[in-house]
Amino acid sequence: MGENQYSLVVVSNRLPVTFERDSAGVLTPVISPGGLVAAVAPALRGKNAAWVGWDGTFDGSENSLDVDGIALFPVALSQTLVEKHYEGFSNSTLWPLLHDIGAQVDFEESWWSAYAEVNQRCADAVARVAAPHATVWIHDYQMMLVPSMVRSLRPDVTMGYFHHIPFPSPPQWNSLPHVSEVVTGLYGADVCGFQRHSDTENFLAAAQATPPASGLIIPKAKTYPISLDFADVSKAASSEVVKHKAKEFRKQWGSPTTVLLGVDRIDYTKGIPERLEAFESLLESGHISTEDVVFVQAGSPSRENVASYQALQTRLDSLVKRINEKFPSSQGRMPVVYWAKNLAREDMLALFVAADVMVVSPLRDGMNLVAKEFIACRGDNSGVLVLSTGAGAADHLTQAVLCEPGNPEALHDAILSALAMDGGEAHTRMAAMRDYLAVHDVAAWASDILGDLASLPSK
Ligand code: G6P
Repeated sequence: MGENQYSLVVVSNRLPVTFERDSAGVLTPVISPGGLVAAVAPALRGKNAAWVGWDGTFDGSENSLDVDGIALFPVALSQTLVEKHYEGFSNSTLWPLLHDIGAQVDFEESWWSAYAEVNQRCADAVARVAAPHATVWIHDYQMMLVPSMVRSLRPDVTMGYFHHIPFPSPPQWNSLPHVSEVVTGLYGADVCGFQRHSDTENFLAAAQATPPASGLIIPKAKTYPISLDFADVSKAASSEVVKHKAKEFRKQWGSPTTVLLGVDRIDYTKGIPERLEAFESLLESGHISTEDVVFVQAGSPSRENVASYQALQTRLDSLVKRINEKFPSSQGRMPVVYWAKNLAREDMLALFVAADVMVVSPLRDGMNLVAKEFIACRGDNSGVLVLSTGAGAADHLTQAVLCEPGNPEALHDAILSALAMDGGEAHTRMAAMRDYLAVHDVAAWASDILGDLASLPSK
């Protein structure tokens, strides 16, 4: 299909693609699983949709790719632009500042210029591929200037922006360099979507303090909590292969009575060291013993060129070593199993099936789909979820054992009450959360947003 033809155009920093080399050395694009892709791709199939973004390479080709029925339009970026836009302003300025957990915020003026340049390149690509009166759906903090940039090129399109991560309260937000340019960057959108009501309110407060330039108006703001493809994950987790792997994993971990599980991107917002320290203090206090319990922590390496992420990896390695040296079981079994690697989808699902208690304890998190995946994998209604209220998921997964983020005693108590919960209560709670997610799934999320955009008067 030629350009200027697509009635739905998605924009995100990353295209949902990775390249696999076949035996002849030829690179083949494949849809990458997980995250935003898993959430958005099902809403695009069969809709004459295009997706604009970076393909993860440096100075790659801008030829479009057809992957699983979605037309992908790569925006080629140099290594310098990626360093300044992605590692710099996106992940060393916006990410720590928007999560508002006291993490160090760095800034360089050249990062800001690169951020604007990458946003402009993406906006130009959208303007090229969108059909007249198309719907444009822009994703996340790496792309906050795209709405106003597209609007000045294409007044005819209907535009939604969805913010996947927290939007902080006014004092924190106002400490952002170039804050008014970032807020007005969103003003080209018709609707801005957020994960939690608090995010929506914080955005509206920021917008009230930032008048629009002529020709633009403040977008409508609404809360749309993201979800997962519940039926698909449930079905995949019930396969014989996954069930078998889950059994094998438990054997591999020394057949403990109880498995506690954490699964995260290795990110300082996820509270991974704090979680392992809570486990350590439970072992120290004698409330639990390595004779019975193993903590399995899986972490996918992330943003590895950013110093704060490197520091976290080092901290985790030494923390795991310390706990394992201090508390081996009488059979020499290690209390913490730490897998710092990307796992195949089936292995990930098998972890969720194998666990007894899943501990999701971010200091702050837009939503946290891992919590929802765990629930989707528990077809027999067993298992308990410990969930920090720092995650957007805690707003509606209220039958989890909820705990305050960043409070070691609260986490300690929450893990203990999860371990002590009787089977009947655990079943009731899990069944209620499964019922909720079966209805509030990713298709409902996408159709809410796309439905709201479709109901706007045509331009
Ligand atoms: C979060 C963000 C996404 C981002 C993802 C993975 O979920 O909201 O926008 O794509 O993390 O991070 P990465 O830096 O690898 O794209």
